[in-house]
Amino acid sequence: MQNKVAVVTGGASGIGLAVAEKLAGLGCKVVIADFNAETGGKAAQRIDASFVQGDLSDAEQCRSVITQATALHGSVDILVNNAGFQHISPIEDFPVEQWNKLLAVMLTAPFLLMRYAWPSMKQNGWGRIINIASVHAMVASPFKAGYISAKHGVIGLTKTAALEGGEFGITANAICPAYVRTPLVENQIADQARTRGIREEEVVSEVMLKNAAIKKLIEPEEVASLAAYLASDQASSITGSTFTIDSGWTAQ
Ligand SMILES: NC(=O)c1ccc[n+]([C@@H]2O[C@H](COP(=O)([O-])OP(=O)(O)OC[C@H]3O[C@@H](n4cnc5c(N)ncnc54)[C@H](O)[C@@H]3O)[C@@H](O)[C@H]2O)c1
Repeated sequence: MQNKVAVVTGGASGIGLAVAEKLAGLGCKVVIADFNAETGGKAAQRIDASFVQGDLSDAEQCRSVITQATALHGSVDILVNNAGFQHISPIEDFPVEQWNKLLAVMLTAPFLLMRYAWPSMKQNGWGRIINIASVHAMVASPFKAGYISAKHGVIGLTKTAALEGGEFGITANAICPAYVRTPLVENQIADQARTRGIREEEVVSEVMLKNAAIKKLIEPEEVASLAAYLASDQASSITGSTFTIDSGWTAQ
């Protein structure tokens, strides 16, 4: 993977940061794209990557991320669609603007970014699209309508990209983790407790790990290792696949 150009969205934090760090360690020229310029800039500096600021809920900024990455390094070879956030609310109270934003960041942005990166991958006869979906792309849980709908959609997008990319050496795959120890999870513990009327301590054991055979949160590095494998030449025949890292959740 030496000198492959990798754009990692949401690379300022959590899973994205772990993926960016892993790919940089393997010799990729990594571009972190995130709306948080402070944490993104610091992360990029620490792992010797570039940073591009952008709010991926905006279509023009999605285009700009790919334009800037291409201007920096000449191509985009690996695209890791990872940026995301969560909103917890019952459907009857679910704010429409949150629904729109969840779909914009976690479904439309991956589509736009792959659309804009596609010509460069096609020209090089080599490309890797890795979508960080979720166990909530396979199953649902209450109070996450927007998130779950966007994540289910990403699986369809992944499969379509795989079919269209095959003849050009472009693979597309999705990783579906259960709860990973990141700020996104830490920040939703209070929201889940309030919405469900339970104590915060109970959220991890009774909600997050309830369906897991292995009763621990997943570490971001575990997701990063799989992403790095899918980005490698060894994974050239793997496409259109979804990989759960869910501690056994969907085995039942
Ligand atoms: N943490 C988990 O348990 C878990 C489980 C399954 C899937 N995921 C998915 O993994 C991805 C990363 O999650 P995480 O837990 O590392 O979260 P995180 O909150 O630690 O990091 C998310 C990053 O995305 C960025 N981001 C959010 N909205 C953005 C926007 N509009 N434009 C640009 N950047 C934006 C944030 O600034 C942040 O740096 C998300 O897609 C999430 O749905 C997380």
